[in-house]
Amino acid sequence: MISQSATPKDTPLPTASLADTLGVLADVVLPTLAKGVIIRRPRAIAIAERLDLDRRAVRRLQRLRDRYGAGPVLLRLPGRVQAVVLAPEHVRRVLAATPEPFAAASSEKRAALSHFEPHGVLISHGAERVERRRFNDTVLESERPRHALAEGFVGVVREEMGRLLETVGRDGTLDWAGFAAAWFRVVRRVTLGDGARDDEELTDLLADLRGDANWGPLRPKRRPLRDRFLARLAAHVARAEPGSLASVAARVPTLPGTDPAGQVPQWLFAFDAAGMATFRALALLATHPAHEARAREELGGAASAGAPELPYLRACVLESVRLWPTTPMVLRQSTGPTTWEGGAMPAGAGVLIFTPFFHRDDARLPFADRLAPEVWLGDGPAPAEWPLIPFSGGPGICPGRQVVLLLASAALAVLLAGRRLAVRPPVRLNAGRPLPATLSPFRLRFSVVE
Ligand code: HEM
Repeated sequence: MISQSATPKDTPLPTASLADTLGVLADVVLPTLAKGVIIRRPRAIAIAERLDLDRRAVRRLQRLRDRYGAGPVLLRLPGRVQAVVLAPEHVRRVLAATPEPFAAASSEKRAALSHFEPHGVLISHGAERVERRRFNDTVLESERPRHALAEGFVGVVREEMGRLLETVGRDGTLDWAGFAAAWFRVVRRVTLGDGARDDEELTDLLADLRGDANWGPLRPKRRPLRDRFLARLAAHVARAEPGSLASVAARVPTLPGTDPAGQVPQWLFAFDAAGMATFRALALLATHPAHEARAREELGGAASAGAPELPYLRACVLESVRLWPTTPMVLRQSTGPTTWEGGAMPAGAGVLIFTPFFHRDDARLPFADRLAPEVWLGDGPAPAEWPLIPFSGGPGICPGRQVVLLLASAALAVLLAGRRLAVRPPVRLNAGRPLPATLSPFRLRFSVVE
């Protein structure tokens, strides 16, 4: 529990020196923005990989913690109060107290996401947020490892990944372009039904708008393009094709402010991250023979029937997003003043939780830079109080997490079953060495040996 009496309410939180502020901007904020927050930029990621920029970001925040203690520490920025969270108990506090007094709908998130999802729950607040969150939780069945439509979803994954493997068979190489095309077919079928399977234009329109969203308020909104995308999406949602998430959405009661179809852009957008997480998990398994052997033990008939739970493969996907979080910046904005041991935070402050700092803190976590699925299975060195939060936490936790783990583990099961995969140079992952801080999915290629 955070003591609120140690510091007078009017003493502000510690403020970083100008040099430290510039250091955080240069090492943490700018590289994350350059890599693309809403849609990844492959070239920027390749540079980050080469220069080990994500490691530098973690080191920077470790130094900030050494210098300023638990924090949160304020950056010295003109016209903006921006806090950086440095202590596990503060992460828990901020996430637990979402959306009041820590709103998920921060101004930068609103500026970015409104390019393509003006009514998304993530940028909604107050009664609208409550209602849209309820809708998302209900359709995505956020607490259930196996969605009511799980068998059908897994069947779709098997079909699409099976077809992918047939094409791979021709020259024996599985690369990102092939995988991503198959993955997005899965995403469109699961979300909108078979009628959307080949609607690549829908995905392309969204990618275009996400490109604008990377620039936040700096890019003017292309409203005609957004309207075209939303209308095309709404037509798919309206079909409510049996077996799809859209069919569930059609059955869930709504209110005037729910905007069911307006929630779906977030799903399509976020499934992109799930594909990257899956591809990286495949690379982890292909380069860690002991873990791969353990994963294969649970495959059994999993690649061909039913929708088994696959706990070990799920843990490997969780490791993929722990090691390389697809939402590295969890942002909040304070809706009122708050007090901390270190001082007071005013209303309207931006609050940054930089997840790689917590997931890869080698000063605190013995498994920071290695593959450790056991952490998620409750039989390893899991520090119960430590924030491993690839899907965020508290009331704003990702409602899609169970569907992600279901589809990702099913895809891994198909890709691994009955064949060996080897990561091709230039990417090198080695079970005996610390894992890299950045791993571009775009440069990953596998040799497939049947
Ligand atoms: C690897 C895949 C994914 C990861 C790592 C992930 C992670 C996250 C994180 C960290 C947040 C919180 C963001 C914030 O507070 O600023 C979030 C929110 C959300 N995610 Fe996911 N997500 C993934 C995929 C998905 C998918 C596939 C869906 C839907 C099918 C989804 C639906 C949502 C929604 C609706 C929110 C907003 C929740 C709210 O504001 O209450 N996510 N996700």
